[in-house]
Amino acid sequence: MSILDKHGVIERNASLLLVGSLVVVCIGGIVEITPLFYFQNTIEKVEGMRPYSPLELAGRDIYVREGCYVCHSQMIRPFRDEVERYGHYSLAAESMYDHPFQWGSKRTGPDLARVGGRYSNEWQVQHLTDPRSVVPESIMPSYSFLAKATLDYDTIEGMLQANARVGVPYTPEMIEGAASDLVAQATPDADTTTVLARYPKAVTGDFDGDPMRITEMDALVAYLQMLGTLVDFNTYDPAANAR
Ligand code: HEC
Repeated sequence: MSILDKHGVIERNASLLLVGSLVVVCIGGIVEITPLFYFQNTIEKVEGMRPYSPLELAGRDIYVREGCYVCHSQMIRPFRDEVERYGHYSLAAESMYDHPFQWGSKRTGPDLARVGGRYSNEWQVQHLTDPRSVVPESIMPSYSFLAKATLDYDTIEGMLQANARVGVPYTPEMIEGAASDLVAQATPDADTTTVLARYPKAVTGDFDGDPMRITEMDALVAYLQMLGTLVDFNTYDPAANAR
């Protein structure tokens, strides 16, 4: 009996085929999954990545609450058309502090992974308030109410703490100083030494054109303005990370 004839036995016996398939799938699973337990970290560390500042984290929460991810992705794929339009393809490390990540699965609007710094604060506010006033053919809804909503940051310490619990490296000092860091980042002429030491490259000042109070618009624009700006791709060396 040749080996192929023996295989015929399995093909004619449904239960045996099922057991055989399970064994094969298990072997495949073990080969794929076991190595992950022996890596220190499955995401390469990349210079420049830091946890979100409290204001950015609050803005990110609004981004999720408003469902911006339904129309916008935050993941630039390594294809030439994407890289030419949006910039360097996204690195895994760039979403390592995202819980949950905002890769998205649909682009009704453009990818936002590197939108930080592409437009002025004024443009962002104008666009969120009335998208068609700056992009006439836009189908994006208006979010003008964000500028009227005072930001509720009573729970900001808890938000940092919750992120720390799932592995974001917020220190006890960062958690304790969350509210004051948030206010310092969004207040013009405030002392930003601490917040910038903790969160390098954070964009500070007033965002929504209303310096008297901190609104949900301030937080959302602070978040948009930092997206994709942390890693310096002039000095980033993929080969160094592969080693
Ligand atoms: C119904 C789908 C839809 C939703 C929901 C939506 N957008 Fe958009 N967005 C678009 C479209 C379409 C464009 C492209 C036209 C334009 O610039 O307005 C766009 C453009 C943008 C741009 C400019 C990007 C660039 O590179 O030019 C930003 C920033 C943006 N959206 C942010 C947001 C934020 C923040 C939210 C959530 C508060 C949001 N969008 C929700 C559809 C949407």
